[in-house]
Amino acid sequence: MKKTAIFYGSSTGNTESVAKQIAELLNADVFDVANNPIEELKNYQNLIFGTSTWGIGDLQDDWDSFISTLEKTDLSGKTCAIFGLGDSSTYSDSFVDGIGTIYKAIENKGCKIVGFVDTTGYDYEESKAEIDEKFVGLPLDENNESNLTKDRINKWVEQIKVEFD
Ligand SMILES: Cc1cc2nc3c(=O)[nH]c(=O)nc-3n(C[C@H](O)[C@H](O)[C@H](O)COP(=O)(O)O)c2cc1C
Repeated sequence: MKKTAIFYGSSTGNTESVAKQIAELLNADVFDVANNPIEELKNYQNLIFGTSTWGIGDLQDDWDSFISTLEKTDLSGKTCAIFGLGDSSTYSDSFVDGIGTIYKAIENKGCKIVGFVDTTGYDYEESKAEIDEKFVGLPLDENNESNLTKDRINKWVEQIKVEFD
């Protein structure tokens, strides 16, 4: 498998912890978007983006600068996947919206986006991450379903591994 990088933004450490778990499984390098590591994008064939959702459906703060650069970056030929942390109980109407925001930013940038996840098994009202009954990335809920996180990560990594170059 060619080189994989994970770019994450995290306020209280949940997304960071997941980024590191995924990195270990894929032997990937990890970058905090707070450091605006835009120059690293060109060094990797496989890109994974991770965010939590804050406010009501907002991308995690540190993403502000990175997302606008990402929107202007040509990702042709690359394979991308997204994961997101959220709270499906307290924020049931904006569950992991951040995944949807990243998806919108990269959907027309020439990359193949993989790692869609069935909505079955998640209990929420609305999500911008949902398109045609699939999440466009992996949702994780450390607030209410932390017992499911490890299995969800393992299953997802197996799924995207097959698609990564
Ligand atoms: C003030 C506040 C607003 C939040 N808003 C949302 C939201 O709109 N949607 C959602 O799915 N989760 C929301 N969450 C839950 C966080 O995304 C969740 O706690 C996540 O695990 C935090 O990850 P982080 O530590 O990597 O930032 C919110 C949490 C707080 C405290």
